[in-house]
Parts: sequence; structure tokens; C-alpha cells
Amino acid sequence: MTFEVAITGVGYRVPERVVHNREFEARMATTDQWISERTGIRERRIADPEVALSDLAIPSGRQALDHAGLDPKDIDLVICGTSTPDMLMPSTAAITAHALGCTRAAAFDLEAACSGFVYALVVAEQFIRTGTYRNVLVIGGDILSKFINWDDRGTAILFADGAGAAVLSRSDRHGFLASTLGADGAGQDLIQIPLGSRTPPSGDKSLHVVHMKGREVYKWAVDNVPKILAQVADAAELTPADFDHIILHQANLRIIEAVSKRLGLRSDQMIVNVDRMANTSAGTIPIALAEAADQGRIKPGDRLCLLGFGSGLTWAATALTWTAPRPRSALARTATTGQEPFVTAPDRSDPGVLPSRSL
Ligand SMILES: CC(C)(COP(=O)(O)OP(=O)(O)OC[C@H]1O[C@@H](n2cnc3c(N)ncnc32)[C@H](O)[C@@H]1OP(=O)(O)O)[C@@H](O)C(=O)NCCC(=O)NCCS
Repeated sequence: MTFEVAITGVGYRVPERVVHNREFEARMATTDQWISERTGIRERRIADPEVALSDLAIPSGRQALDHAGLDPKDIDLVICGTSTPDMLMPSTAAITAHALGCTRAAAFDLEAACSGFVYALVVAEQFIRTGTYRNVLVIGGDILSKFINWDDRGTAILFADGAGAAVLSRSDRHGFLASTLGADGAGQDLIQIPLGSRTPPSGDKSLHVVHMKGREVYKWAVDNVPKILAQVADAAELTPADFDHIILHQANLRIIEAVSKRLGLRSDQMIVNVDRMANTSAGTIPIALAEAADQGRIKPGDRLCLLGFGSGLTWAATALTWTAPRPRSALARTATTGQEPFVTAPDRSDPGVLPSRSL
């Protein structure tokens, strides 16, 4: 016997610090205009030095539980999709489950880079569909600002911090329709943070940060994302035009526009927040989803496609029908203003690649 599965609650949390493109002009050879035109990004949220992923995951999860109307003890499993956990061990999922009071829950992290949230959704869905669990809390998020070379104009302008969450529950309605997951390690050198057991922590900080072949990633995405989207639509017995809302990984507005053009999609189908949030890796899709639910843009009965892609290379897509009501209390938090600039001019006496402000 199998069971239907639906998203019953969402939440998100981003840092309060807003970093506008103009702040990069003091530090590197770039301009607000270049960044806006090539990426669609105008600003992003960057965490303060003391903030770790669980500081964003915990409030996201709490909002999602509240929206779902569940007690933390109702949760059977917590999965956190991330590449930037609080620590290599224990998992951020275990830290988050404990802080939320999910005392009955199993917990693990899932590493599929920017595809992590949708990968985790699909894993969670399987546990519920088979009857193993009733309620799973899925979190997706990253704090990539701590793993960026702030002198590398090819990456520093793109990545940011944030987390979002979704509760999946056994349902009497037909929520999840179809999903597809994939990976191709042949593209492992396109986006990397070398730090790990092959490259343990060392004095060479250049191995602790994102390295990316941006143009090749761009080309891969524009060639493959339309095929992945068409594939998941087909598996759900839909066409891409049938989706009311499509949330692609928010890496670059030009990628979203190119995919949209290739598939002949309408602009009103695409949910976009890359202009305000930039690329929060595993956070982009749950943040955009929770924002759209919060704004009442997504309504019960709407058909959604969520599609992530990124380092690995990995990709994950799911088609679902939205069944949750609009959250009762506003999820959004207002940004504070009047902060010190985040991206400061480099201190050339510091041989490291990271400015002290970013760590
Ligand atoms: C990184 C990215 C914005 C670069 O844009 P692009 O249009 O491909 O630009 P290119 O890499 O072809 O570089 C064009 C020129 O701009 C320069 N450039 C790169 N970053 C720049 C910046 N921030 N400001 C100004 N110039 C920049 C390059 O050095 C290059 O100069 P050159 O012609 O003198 O060599 C784009 O490739 C991209 O978004 N790729 C996908 C990355 C991604 O989404 N990664 C995450 C996936 S999960």
C-alpha cells in the first residue's frame, strides 16, 4: 500500500544584512551594471560572522511547522540539504531537530549542492509514500559567504546565504505527481569547494572556497535544464505550459530566461527572486517557494515545478499540486538598514584570500 504526499507547510529565513552590487565596486573590477545585466542580481543577503546554517534552518523549520499546524513531536524525520553545514559532524539536521524539539525524529544531512533541497524533498516523499513516516521536515540552505574568495569577481558576486523549509505529510490529496533525480560526476570540476578529506584544512585558504568555471556551468544549464523540466512534466502527464508556477534554481536570471525561451514558457509562470536573494545554493528554491506562498501567489490546486541543479553535477526536479493554505502569519522579516558596508576594500597586508569581515 502506498500513500499520497503533500507539502503542508513552508518557511524561510535570510540574514538581515543586505549587500548591494555597488558594494563590490570598491573591492574588485566590476560594476553594478555588469552584475545586473549578466546575472539579474541587484542585492543579496549575507550572514554575520557568528551565524551558522542552523541559525537560519531552525527559524525556517519553526515557521514550516507552524504553517503545517504540527507539533515538533509529530515530525518523524528531518533532512537538511546543504553543502555548508554548521560542522562536518554532527549533521545540521540533528542540531536543528534538537533545537526545534523534534524529539522523535531521525535526522540526516543530504549533500547535493544547489540541488539539495529538491533531492531531499524527493527522499522525504519516498518515506511517506511507502508508509514508513507520516511527517518529514525538509530544510534547504547554505551559508556560502564563508566559502567565497572575496577577490574573485567570477564567484563573489553570485553567491549568498539563506535557508527555507517545507513539511511533507501523508495526505488524502494528490500532492506530489512525479520527480526525477540525476548526477553526472564527469562535471565535478565545474563547481568545487576543494576542502574535504582529499584536501584537508590547511594554510592555503584558496582551497577552502568556491572554484567555478562559470561559462561552462552556464552552457550546461541552458542545454540541460529545459530537458529536465520537459522530462518531469512528461512523467507527471503534463506539458511545461501546464505548470502554474515554475521555480528554477535561482543561479542567474539569464539562465532562467534562456530556459523559459527554449520551452516557450510564459513569464507569469516563472517565480524569480534572484534579483534580491542571489544564489543561496540549496536555499534558493525553498526561499522562493515560501515567499510565494506567503504572498498568496501560490494557491491550492496550482501545479508547480521545482527544479534544482548545481555542483556534482547534480539535478533534481519535482512536479506537484499545491494543497496548503496561505500561511496565517507573515513569514517575511524586514531587513535592517544603516549597516556598515560588508564588502570592504581589500587589506593588502593580509595575504589570505578572504577579508576578515567575511569570516
Ligand atoms: C559567472 C557568469 C555571471 C559570467 O558571465 P559571462 O557572461 O559568462 O561572462 P564570461 O565568463 O564569459 O566573462 C566575460 C568577461 O567578463 C569578465 N567578468 C567576469 N566576472 C565579472 C564581473 N563580476 N564584473 C566584471 N567583469 C567580469 C570576465 O573576466 C571576462 O572578461 P574577458 O572577456 O576580458 O576575459 C556566468 O557565466 C554565469 O552566471 N554562469 C553560471 C554560474 C552559475 O550559475 N553557477 C552556479 C550554478 S549552481
